[in-house]
Amino acid sequence: MQKDFERSENLAGAVTVPPDKSISHRAAIISSLCSGTSRIEGYSPAADCASTLRCLEVLGVKQSWEGDTLLVEGRGEKGFSQPDDPLECGNSATTMRLLAGVLAGESLDVTLTGDESLARRPMRRVIEPLSLMGAEVYAEGDGERPPLRIKGAKLKGIEYSPSVASAQVKSAVLLAGLNAEGTTTVHEIVNTRDHTERMLETMSIAVRREGLSISVEPGSPRPYGFNIPGDFSSAAFIITAALVCPGSEITIYDVGLNPTRTAFLEMILRMGADVEVAEGVTGSWEPRGTVTVRFSSLSAIKISGDDVARAIDEIPLLALLATQAVGRTEISDAGELRHKESDRIEGTVQGLSSMGALVEETLDGMAIEGPCNLTGSVTSSQRDHRLAMTLAVAGLAAAGKTTVHDWEFTNISYPGFDGVLRGLGARVVE
Ligand code: S3P
Repeated sequence: MQKDFERSENLAGAVTVPPDKSISHRAAIISSLCSGTSRIEGYSPAADCASTLRCLEVLGVKQSWEGDTLLVEGRGEKGFSQPDDPLECGNSATTMRLLAGVLAGESLDVTLTGDESLARRPMRRVIEPLSLMGAEVYAEGDGERPPLRIKGAKLKGIEYSPSVASAQVKSAVLLAGLNAEGTTTVHEIVNTRDHTERMLETMSIAVRREGLSISVEPGSPRPYGFNIPGDFSSAAFIITAALVCPGSEITIYDVGLNPTRTAFLEMILRMGADVEVAEGVTGSWEPRGTVTVRFSSLSAIKISGDDVARAIDEIPLLALLATQAVGRTEISDAGELRHKESDRIEGTVQGLSSMGALVEETLDGMAIEGPCNLTGSVTSSQRDHRLAMTLAVAGLAAAGKTTVHDWEFTNISYPGFDGVLRGLGARVVE
C-alpha cells in the first residue's frame, strides 16, 4: 500500500501519541513472570507489541482486556508451558531478544522466529551472554541470525560488558539474571534506555545502578498497575513535522520524557529549535510531560558518540532536519543503524537524495549540506516503519507529491500516523 503527501504549512493542534512501545513490551514480559495479575493501562497498539502478547500467549500466559486496560496473569517462577511450534516474533527484535533472556532460565526448548527483516538481525549479541550464563542458545540462520533456539538451563549470574550499546542486550541479560544464581551485572558503554531496570525496581527486584553498571539479584517481580506514557520516539515524528512545516505549532501531551530517550530534544535545541518541555508528575516510575514545538530556523550540528546511541531511533529524523538546517551536518558513530529493521543509513540517504537532498553516505553515518529545497519523489520505505514515517514528514516539506511505498509498515509502531498528520492540517492525499 502506498501513501502520498504534499507540501504543508501551518500544522496546528494538540495530540497524544501511542503508548510507549519499549515500555509496553517490558510491562507484558515482566508481568508474565509475576505470581499474580498485573494491570497495564495503555498498552501500545503497535504491531510489535502484539507480537510480544502473541508469543506470551503461546507460552501459556493468559491475557484479557478491561476496556483499555490489559490484564496479564503471571505464571510465576518457571511457569511457562512448552510450546509445540516456534514463537513468531514478527518484525520485533525487542520481542525476540528480551524473550531469549527470559527463556534462558526456563526448563524449555523454544525456537523464536520472525519476518524477513528480523531474519537479518544479528543475534550473536544475545547468544554470547546467555551462553556464558549457562543456557544453550543457537542461531539457526546464517551468520548467527534467527531463528533463535533456546534450551533453558540452570543459570549463573555473570558480569558482562556488551560490545554494542544496546538496551535489548542489556535487558536480555538482566531478565535472565532474575532466574540465575548470584548477582548479574551489565557494564554498558553508554546509558541506553533504562526501562527494564526502572520496571524491575518498581516491581520489587533488587537493582543496583552505579554509573554505567546495572546489577540485579534473582527474584520474582511483584505484580504492578502500569500506566504507560506516550512514546517519545513516535512524538519525534510529530515534532519534526512542526519543525519543517512553516507556521506550525503543535503540542504533544503526556509523552514519556525518560532522559535515556530524549537526546533528540537536546540535539534539536542545539540546532535552534523552538521547543518547550514541561515535566508533568515527577517522581513517578517513568517521567512524562508535555512538549510544545514551533516551526524554526535550524543550524547544522555534529552528531556522534553517546548522542547517537541515546537517539538511535531518531537519527533518520535528524538527517531530515539537517536538510533544512544551514550548514553541514555530520552524523558519525552510527554503524548500528545498519542493523535495524532495514539498513537505515542506506535507506535514509537513498530516500532523502531522491528528493534532492545533498546527502553523502559514510561507513558509519552521513553528511548533509543544508538548507535545500526538497522535491517530492516516489520513495521506498524499505519495509521499515521509521523510514516510512521519516519520508512522509520529508514529503510535507517538499514541493509536489511524495509517494511512500509499503506504508502499512507504519503499523509496526504508529498505527494511524497519516490520520494524525491530517488532523494537524497536513496534506495527506486521500
Ligand atoms: C529498543 C532498543 C533499541 C531501539 C529499539 C527498541 C528496546 O534497540 O532501537 O527500537 O525496546 O530495547 P537496540 O537495543 O538494539 O539498540
